[in-house]
Amino acid sequence: MTCRAEEIPNVGDHRGMDLRMGRDDVVALEEGFERDLRSNARVTSEKGESDVHHIVLDCGGIPFPVLEGQTVGVIPPGTDGSGKPHTLRLYSVASARDGETEGRGDFALTVKRVMHDRAGKTMAGIASNHLCDLVAGSRVQLVGPYGGSFLMPNDPAAKLLMIATGTAFSPMRAMIQRRQRRGELDPRTAVLFYGGRTPNEMPYYEELAAFAPEQLTLYPAFSRQPSQPLRYVQNALIEARDQVVSLLRDPLCHVYLCGLRSMEQDVMAYFHRICMAAHIDWPGLREHLHRGGRLHLETY
Ligand SMILES: Cc1cc2nc3c(=O)[nH]c(=O)nc-3n(C[C@H](O)[C@H](O)[C@H](O)COP(=O)(O)OP(=O)(O)OC[C@H]3O[C@@H](n4cnc5c(N)ncnc54)[C@H](O)[C@@H]3O)c2cc1C
Ligand SMILES: NC(=O)c1ccc[n+]([C@@H]2O[C@H](COP(=O)([O-])OP(=O)(O)OC[C@H]3O[C@@H](n4cnc5c(N)ncnc54)[C@H](OP(=O)(O)O)[C@@H]3O)[C@@H](O)[C@H]2O)c1
Repeated sequence: MTCRAEEIPNVGDHRGMDLRMGRDDVVALEEGFERDLRSNARVTSEKGESDVHHIVLDCGGIPFPVLEGQTVGVIPPGTDGSGKPHTLRLYSVASARDGETEGRGDFALTVKRVMHDRAGKTMAGIASNHLCDLVAGSRVQLVGPYGGSFLMPNDPAAKLLMIATGTAFSPMRAMIQRRQRRGELDPRTAVLFYGGRTPNEMPYYEELAAFAPEQLTLYPAFSRQPSQPLRYVQNALIEARDQVVSLLRDPLCHVYLCGLRSMEQDVMAYFHRICMAAHIDWPGLREHLHRGGRLHLETY
């Protein structure tokens, strides 16, 4: 199916639709295409451990059809140990559908440089290092966009309960940018729980902190802020439980959770706790949200 992003009506209607949209003036996405680097900047403090880059790609103003919440696949150059081309790695698009620069058709990625495997052993991740080291004039091999389950509703009255850690804030940045550009940003409908080690290690934290309380409700959670106790997003959820309950009960609310798999398990357990205290059947409500396409989980 081929359609313009602007023509897509509501989130419910995305289901079952091929979201790898094409337009006559856009390259054939399924076969892969290239984009030029427009800018590449580190967005976390040089002092911190976490090296995260805000990378903007475009192709001389040719629009790129993507929706907030979708990912693109990056194919790093070269071959792996067995001589085969590298496989693609997915990255969430961090900008709204009309571009990082409004109307330009460019788009942003938020990439964390991987320097250790999950067991802590030193190794340089292939795609993340390729992207973080891009210089002016570089071209990037892409496929996609992909994903039809983490999309935002077009209804401006729909409430977004967003929970993210670190680079996983990227798709939510796209949603917030979309609402801001349309004059639809409202603290009652955009509620964000955002976790990271310290503000310096959290991508876009300064940008977020600059939003007025009349635009966005922000609950930060810092796990390693000196002289403060560890605080994860779930601790912030407990503190804001009255608002969380009212959102979970609201038929207009969509829940978005993105980040570490362990965070998903913990947040679900905290939702259970919060709901039990409010005499709500969480397993039933969870199923109801899921069936209604209002529970959006992307963790790994
Ligand atoms: C749906 C989806 C969306 C994603 N969006 C983003 C995004 O917006 N920004 C982003 O930076 N990454 C994102 N990722 C992760 C990304 O796809 C890559 O897996 C990551 O950049 C590592 O790739 P690499 O080629 O550098 O490492 P590889 O050469 O593939 O090596 C991976 C090794 O690094 C370990 N590792 C350590 N930290 C990580 C980590 N944070 N992620 C993955 N593997 C890790 C793995 O266990 C493995 O041993 C996303 C993944 C998925 C599935
Ligand atoms: N679309 C997607 O699916 C998508 C997009 C982007 C990124 N991601 C993934 O999201 C994850 C984010 O990693 P990151 O390196 O960017 O983040 P990060 O900067 O390391 O931040 C992660 C934060 O979460 C905390 N944390 C650890 N365990 C937790 C738990 N069980 N519950 C709640 N918080 C917990 C960490 O605390 P401590 O370290 O202090 O314990 C830290 O403050 C990665 O796995 C990344 O690949 C997914």
